[in-house]
Amino acid sequence: MELTDEIMVQRTTKSRLPEVDFNKLGFGNYISDHMLICYYKNGQWEAPSIVPFGDISLSPATLALHYGQSVFEGLKAFRLDDGRVNLFRVQKHYERMLRSLSRMCMPGVPEEIFVEGLRRLIEVDRDWLPTQPGGALYVRPIMFASEAKYGVKIADEYCFIMFTGPVGSYFANPLRLKVETDFARAAKGGTGSAKCAGNYGGAFYPTQKAKEAGYDQVIWTDARENKYIEESGMMNAMFVIDGVLVTPPTSDSILAGVTRDSLLTLADDLGIPHEARPIAVTELENAFRHNAISEAFGAGTAAVVAPIATIHINGIDHHLPATNDNSVMFRLKNRLEAIRKCQEEDKHGWNFLF
Ligand code: COI
Repeated sequence: MELTDEIMVQRTTKSRLPEVDFNKLGFGNYISDHMLICYYKNGQWEAPSIVPFGDISLSPATLALHYGQSVFEGLKAFRLDDGRVNLFRVQKHYERMLRSLSRMCMPGVPEEIFVEGLRRLIEVDRDWLPTQPGGALYVRPIMFASEAKYGVKIADEYCFIMFTGPVGSYFANPLRLKVETDFARAAKGGTGSAKCAGNYGGAFYPTQKAKEAGYDQVIWTDARENKYIEESGMMNAMFVIDGVLVTPPTSDSILAGVTRDSLLTLADDLGIPHEARPIAVTELENAFRHNAISEAFGAGTAAVVAPIATIHINGIDHHLPATNDNSVMFRLKNRLEAIRKCQEEDKHGWNFLF
């Protein structure tokens, strides 16, 4: 018998859907009516349930709150014109979640709970899927050490939750970024390639400093020499230099972005030359000096592509040229969106339709 055969579904008696302004979604402002919740105890997963979204009670001794065994994912579902739902690259997100969990010494969540559980959750909250262009249902799976024991140890008990929420665009304007050389996001051998909570909490302070200086976010550089570009805020960093799409290679300090992977694959399909290779900060400076850099953008699930307008390096603000419909980032984004909406052939098998 499969764990998901036993999913108990308890529906809300009062939907919060009427409170949603679908014309002003933004990101992270709304949470759909239901969530899937599932516990790991005594070395095994219990059957998941789908319940009304709401608070959970935790002991102050909950291990995740002390030692940070907490991992999350972010993926999107889209409503097609014919009413079907497309859960985009769910397998790739599931595999990354497993890698993050393994890095944090946490047990793998079964695929049937992640994939089939999510399909059922979205079925229950189907009406929450936005219809407007650029809208999506964002899915947030999280898993944390729920064992109530403050002794320093790998937890024996975990809680896995998935909830969703309708989202629109993440950033309103092109970004002003500062290349960060005093703080680092992740070090070689660290947890930078895992989607664990601490990576994000640790990024807040440098980001806050950058904001105080008039920038939106930072461009992270390597922790060892602060010489090479790593990520752009919470996204993978991409540039077009001399007509070639370049991005740093994934490593143990760079998250293997699913959007990054999709855009590079689509660049292949569209015949756009691209390279995943180390990019020195000095290379960017030179490229600005010689007008060789035509585009810079962040790539991530939440934002898809986030155009960068300004990059601050060593005391100088460098400005990117204005983008247009022919910009590499928009050609890639448009192709990605057409595949997600089933307006283009899904030749890489990325769509999960129901
Ligand atoms: C995403 O792009 O989905 C992310 O996970 C980044 C952020 C919203 C936490």
